Amino acid sequence: MKSTSLRRRVSSLVTIIVVVTAGLNFLAAHWSLQISLSDYVRTAERDQVADWASVLTLVQDEGHSLNTGMLAFPRSTVRIDGKSLMETQFALATRRRTIVHTSFPRSVWRTWPVSGVLYHGESVGVLYMQPYVPTRVGPIRRRISGNFDLGLALVTLLSTLGALALTTLVIRRALMPLSQLALATNAIVKGNFNASLPTGGDDELRQLVAAFSAMRENLNQARDAREQALADIHHELRTPMNVISNRLEAIQVGLFQWDHQTVSVLHREVQRIQKILLDLRELQDVITDALTLAPEWVDVLAWLNNLASLFQVECETSDVLITLCTQSSPIRMWADANKMSQVMVNLISNALRFTPPGRNVRILASEDACYVHLEVRDEGQGIAPEHLPHIFERFYRVDESRGPSSGGSGLGLSIVHEIIRAHRGTVTVESEVGSGTRFLIRLPKSPEPCLD
Ligand SMILES: Nc1ncnc2c1ncn2[C@@H]1O[C@H](COP(=O)(O)OP(=O)(O)OP(=O)(O)O)[C@@H](O)[C@H]1O
Ligand SMILES: [Mg+2]
Repeated sequence: MKSTSLRRRVSSLVTIIVVVTAGLNFLAAHWSLQISLSDYVRTAERDQVADWASVLTLVQDEGHSLNTGMLAFPRSTVRIDGKSLMETQFALATRRRTIVHTSFPRSVWRTWPVSGVLYHGESVGVLYMQPYVPTRVGPIRRRISGNFDLGLALVTLLSTLGALALTTLVIRRALMPLSQLALATNAIVKGNFNASLPTGGDDELRQLVAAFSAMRENLNQARDAREQALADIHHELRTPMNVISNRLEAIQVGLFQWDHQTVSVLHREVQRIQKILLDLRELQDVITDALTLAPEWVDVLAWLNNLASLFQVECETSDVLITLCTQSSPIRMWADANKMSQVMVNLISNALRFTPPGRNVRILASEDACYVHLEVRDEGQGIAPEHLPHIFERFYRVDESRGPSSGGSGLGLSIVHEIIRAHRGTVTVESEVGSGTRFLIRLPKSPEPCLD
């Protein structure tokens, strides 16, 4: 189907409306003038007939001397039926056809209507009357009508053109921001997120631009995050892959033997890659499953006891004591127990890893009216303040080396963050270098909104 631009469509619509309105106005004015003119002609003809009869009556009945009477009052003061005879051009002649008074050439009055003038029953003359309406109204009417139509047509044409020009201007101005938005959208499609956006305008437009701008910002962030993630993954995989590749090359050229130590180095690096892939998979699952949690009522004390027991062997080997501190009354929370176990395992593993032998790791649980509070507190090396804001970012590790000796892949806390976010909760960290670290989780107790 052929597409039309919005501007063209609105312009066409406005043009049709303006032209039709102007045409109707023209017809209405023309029609109204014709009616008025017809009325006028009818009235004038009627008055003329009335005047004619009145003049004859005056001439017959008043008994004046025709010569003096009609000569004395022809142009100003004789009034018949409230109308001055001035409105009627007239001439009077005797029976011997002598013109007594006329303001017209003789050739003219001979063509005028004629009536005999009787005086005491005797014909004394002839009255010539020139009715001024019938002979001139036709052309005048045509001229008035023609002039009026011409003037009206010109005014209509000019005002229509003016209205169209103005409308085109207004439409162009009104639709300009939309064109700008379209350009900005095309720019985004081509990967440019910096195209300028329209400013000002009406409320609706400002809302549209604000929504567009927020969407563009989100897309931009998503793109940055994707690029960052790819760079991180590349960086993380490159280190173990380099170790493997270098070691294999060295074996090939005879620098290293294929002995037990080499095998264990290669094995450790492969395991490292496997862990990164597993963690990435887990993170991916957490992000995509965020909306498909399987929440249930969880008895927090029983659940934590169970979790702590998982670390029994690790605690014994590292000589770190895990203590569980909860309030005496039972605590229940509405959560996905499996996902929350993932969270606690990540936090407790970190705490054990960074706590020196002989110190404690404590797990605390409490509740208030709306929330359950969980805490993993260790007495380890702590985290320097400059690292704290980045601790939940993917692949972020405090250790500069980022080598295999640092342990994990730096994805644990980002997984924690995603799971807690899916539960509509929050996770925060407090730490002091040399004293220890606290991870605090706050989860809504129940699925219903809490107003406290
Ligand atoms: N309790 C803690 N004490 C001190 N540093 C910590 C603690 N927990 C986390 N960190 C620091 O934060 C970094 C990120 O932790 P995170 O759990 O995300 O990654 P990881 O433990 O290194 O790897 P992974 O958990 O993916 O195996 C850690 O590398 C460590 O430097
Ligand atoms: Mg970890």
